Amino acid sequence: MTGPELKTALPGPRARAIIERDAKVVSTSYTRDYPFVMARGEGAYVEDVDGNVFLDCTAGIAVAATGHSHPDVVRAIVEQAGRFLHMSGTDFYYEPQVQLGEELSAIAPMPGPHRSFFGNSGTEANEAALKLAKYYTKRHSIIAFFGAFHGRTMGSLSMTASKPAQRRGFAPFVPGVYHAPFANCYRCPVSATPETCAAECLRFIEEQLFVHVVPPEEVAAIMVEPIQGEGGYIVPPDVFHQRLREIASRYGMLLIVDEVQSGMGRTGKMFAIEHTGVHPDIVTAAKGIASGLPLGVATARSEVISWPPGTHASTFGGNPVACAASLATIKLLRDGLMKNAEVVGAHMLAGARALMARHPIIGDVRGRGLMIGVELVRDRKTKERATAERDRVVRECFTRGLLVLGAGQNAIRLSPPLVLTKDQADTALTLLDQALRVAGHVQ
Ligand SMILES: Cc1ncc(COP(=O)(O)O)c(C=O)c1O
Repeated sequence: MTGPELKTALPGPRARAIIERDAKVVSTSYTRDYPFVMARGEGAYVEDVDGNVFLDCTAGIAVAATGHSHPDVVRAIVEQAGRFLHMSGTDFYYEPQVQLGEELSAIAPMPGPHRSFFGNSGTEANEAALKLAKYYTKRHSIIAFFGAFHGRTMGSLSMTASKPAQRRGFAPFVPGVYHAPFANCYRCPVSATPETCAAECLRFIEEQLFVHVVPPEEVAAIMVEPIQGEGGYIVPPDVFHQRLREIASRYGMLLIVDEVQSGMGRTGKMFAIEHTGVHPDIVTAAKGIASGLPLGVATARSEVISWPPGTHASTFGGNPVACAASLATIKLLRDGLMKNAEVVGAHMLAGARALMARHPIIGDVRGRGLMIGVELVRDRKTKERATAERDRVVRECFTRGLLVLGAGQNAIRLSPPLVLTKDQADTALTLLDQALRVAGHVQ
């Protein structure tokens, strides 16, 4: 498949008809920014039901890590599906789950030995980590961060503090979760300078939370995204995570890193936390882990994940077909895609930064590998958020054959499949440039 190539007005007639049917039967809670109706995909391209081909810089929210329908992944899925589809790894044994446990142990960002819990989604992986931390430490409180997104089931939602719409109407939440400022140096939440932002944010934990709100000996874990995803693709300084590790160790808390969005090779390393040299106690992953099949894992040091039978399980978790897809995915990441994410990501980041010279609406460009955020502001000095403009740019990209998503209140996220080439990255940036020219100046 090559592209982008648009053959109809958007949405085309087939897409329009499906969207009308969708409106009648599908939950109204989903957020669709533009009317893309998928028919098939290949690599970094996706085709809609009217034959229009788009360059995909979303990877279906950072999931299609190996590109759409990578032949190796499809083959692994088909072969496993032909053998058996399900036997519940919680009650029986099968080798693909064991093999994946071994693979996860080999790539885990901390020294082993390790064990893994298998679920079906990011939120389940985080629920498992939350429960495990409570169980292991026999403590009940959790520290999470403003801007964090950990999922939508009640435990994960209680740690999520991204957008009010995600929490409105769902209180009360799981008790004992306390939020602290995340080191977003572009707009420091505690008004510090970029040099002092990380230290000042963490000072809040030790000098406010621990002094006034929660005794540290009651905190089971600190839960943190190495790079905030839904929050706006925000990369904190490495020292932020290094100091968090120190705080967790000092008070006997576990450090849980949520790599659901930042993991699986996307940043040029298997896990984004590896850029910081920090060893977490538990790491969670999902999204890109199986190239699109539902799988979420929580991997911990074996000593931590030694809870007795019956404490936690999932009927579908670690489904053999998803495990097979994951094994093929990890092999592809190791055999070149992780490196590609690093190389093409650096190229794309530089290209996105170059756009700043032409577009004053771009306030900040940040990222690691192919996890890139472009934040739009109405004024570079005041940093007033250009939310309406961002939404319009996202739609203008669509009408030009480029799929992107928003992140946070006013950023655009570039999270393409990790097979993206430099040429495709350049095409994406050209289309983004055009979209910014049209949409960047609306008030
Ligand atoms: C960092 C992070 N954690 C958890 C989740 C939740 O994953 P899922 O939607 O698979 O439950 C997401 C989803 O966007 C995420 O970005």
